[in-house]
Amino acid sequence: MAELPQRGAVVGCGVIGAAWAARMRLRGIDVSAYDPSPNASGILDDVLADAVSAWQALGLSTDHVASLTLCASIEEAVADAGLIQESVPERLDIKHSTLAAIDAAAPADAIVASSTSGYKPTDLATSMTRPERLVVAHPFNPVYLLPLVEIVGGEQTSLGTIDRAMGTYRALGMHPLHVRKEIDAFIADRLLEAVWREALWLVNDGIATTEEIDDAIRYGFGLRWAQMGTFETYRIAGGEGGMRHFMEQFGPALKWPWTKLMDTPELTDELIDTIAEQSDEQAAGRSIRDLAQERDRNLVAILRALESVDAGAGKTITNLRALQS
Ligand SMILES: NC(=O)c1ccc[n+]([C@@H]2O[C@H](COP(=O)([O-])OP(=O)(O)OC[C@H]3O[C@@H](n4cnc5c(N)ncnc54)[C@H](O)[C@@H]3O)[C@@H](O)[C@H]2O)c1
Repeated sequence: MAELPQRGAVVGCGVIGAAWAARMRLRGIDVSAYDPSPNASGILDDVLADAVSAWQALGLSTDHVASLTLCASIEEAVADAGLIQESVPERLDIKHSTLAAIDAAAPADAIVASSTSGYKPTDLATSMTRPERLVVAHPFNPVYLLPLVEIVGGEQTSLGTIDRAMGTYRALGMHPLHVRKEIDAFIADRLLEAVWREALWLVNDGIATTEEIDDAIRYGFGLRWAQMGTFETYRIAGGEGGMRHFMEQFGPALKWPWTKLMDTPELTDELIDTIAEQSDEQAAGRSIRDLAQERDRNLVAILRALESVDAGAGKTITNLRALQS
């Protein structure tokens, strides 16, 4: 298992950056953070509080939360950091200027990681003089609870950087998944986007409300997906004939004119209004923070249940317990 660096840096402290800071601090890494927003300090505090509650509910130790230093510049934040996690807004110009500033000031052997949801690392690295140390490390919200992080190297990323990144994120208690080839949006967001496109059509065409679509996921296949993925689930669905039988039986349906996967509805004002209003109704007065805390309680329950049967993401919690002992 790789050793964690003594200091990490988080550049951009919104939803994702603040949660990276919390995960690092809970794993004993001192964090230097930079964000130009006056709200950053409050977000960092709130997210740490939620992360501590979640780890306590998982039965993990929160006795040694490492320090946080808010810095006045990127240069100051990254100067002594062994792991630098960029989480600025998803715009290529902002990514480029931020990565150039990180590149100029970071220690030579630091891992420079981007949280981007979709840009390929080769396209991100064009503003860097040391692109061999850049990886995409794409996390999932909430970063302090969800273990998956997709690791993607660019054309100039060194194999050593990928290896070190895999070890470092594992030592952070995560499940790093190395994406073999660069592709826009990597693996998970491509899958999510397919579901999202169909969901938009179902609302657009008046087939279902936002709540009904969410129910269709969470009362059914969403539960399956938390413990086995699509392929293992479908293998079982094929009965004793397994995957081959499943594909023979349902393969022809792929040719039927059902799917709208390659097509998206026009995001008209009317469609946006419909989705926003239905989503407000579904929230029934619960604030975003209320919903985030409800989500965390549910995720903790699921992770604990999976851990009790040594399955799926539950194994990462067992691993975290061992790392803490
Ligand atoms: N939200 C998600 O679910 C999610 C999941 C995975 C990855 N990501 C990726 O993480 C990154 C951040 O997304 P987010 O959802 O946290 O966005 P966000 O808007 O919540 O946070 C972005 C933060 O960056 C700060 N910022 C703006 N310009 C900056 C600069 N020049 N230098 C430093 N900080 C700056 C903003 O003040 C803000 O606090 C994006 O690349 C996004 O694609 C998001």
